[in-house]
Amino acid sequence: MDNRFIDVILSLRTVRNFKTEQIEDEKLSLILKAATSAPSSGNTQPWEFIVVKNIQIKKKIKEVIASAWRNHVLKRLKEIDDKTRKVYDDATQLVDNSENVPVIILACLDLRKASKTEEAKFASIYPAVQNLLLAAHSIGLGTCLTTHGCTPTRGEAEVKEILGIPEHIKISGLIFVGYPAKKLGPPKRHELSTVVHMDGW
Ligand SMILES: Cc1cc2nc3c(=O)[nH]c(=O)nc-3n(C[C@H](O)[C@H](O)[C@H](O)COP(=O)(O)O)c2cc1C
Repeated sequence: MDNRFIDVILSLRTVRNFKTEQIEDEKLSLILKAATSAPSSGNTQPWEFIVVKNIQIKKKIKEVIASAWRNHVLKRLKEIDDKTRKVYDDATQLVDNSENVPVIILACLDLRKASKTEEAKFASIYPAVQNLLLAAHSIGLGTCLTTHGCTPTRGEAEVKEILGIPEHIKISGLIFVGYPAKKLGPPKRHELSTVVHMDGW
């Protein structure tokens, strides 16, 4: 079956190394449009996006998230295998290089607009985030979705302060975007048969 959309989905990878080349405004608008076309509980559309290109602001964000990453994630890592170690090393390199990533997009949830149930709340922002990742990939951009700056131990309060984000807004994802420095192979995922249950568990 020849289906370019499915090919885009099946080849989406997390990109942590970017070219310095800037992203065209039309491309940025397109991926944000894709994000805001997502479904949401009761069509509440509780999303807000902050696009950060300014290097000084990116540097401030980097200081916060790099310190949180070291103190609350890396320090607590127990024994890990070599493959996982490589992912964490790449993730650390990305954080340390944050200011050089062309664009950082913060996907935020407006708690006043969002449904009140916990599940519907977050289920109303991540489809938008996934739309953004896929749209970016379909036009040659790479992305890395992270929870840097999204929780109390990952520097959310500090990032909110830097960007002047109001109280009722919850940072739900921080997405690094740019042109990939190298081409990545297909994602490695569990076999369908190990995760799909037919007519019951
Ligand atoms: C909720 C969430 C948080 C993530 N946090 C990070 C992160 O902090 N740093 C990072 O480099 N990648 C992060 N990732 C990306 C994952 O590491 C990545 O999706 C996974 O390793 C699979 O990689 P692949 O898509 O290239 O196959 C995160 C992904 C999700 C969905």
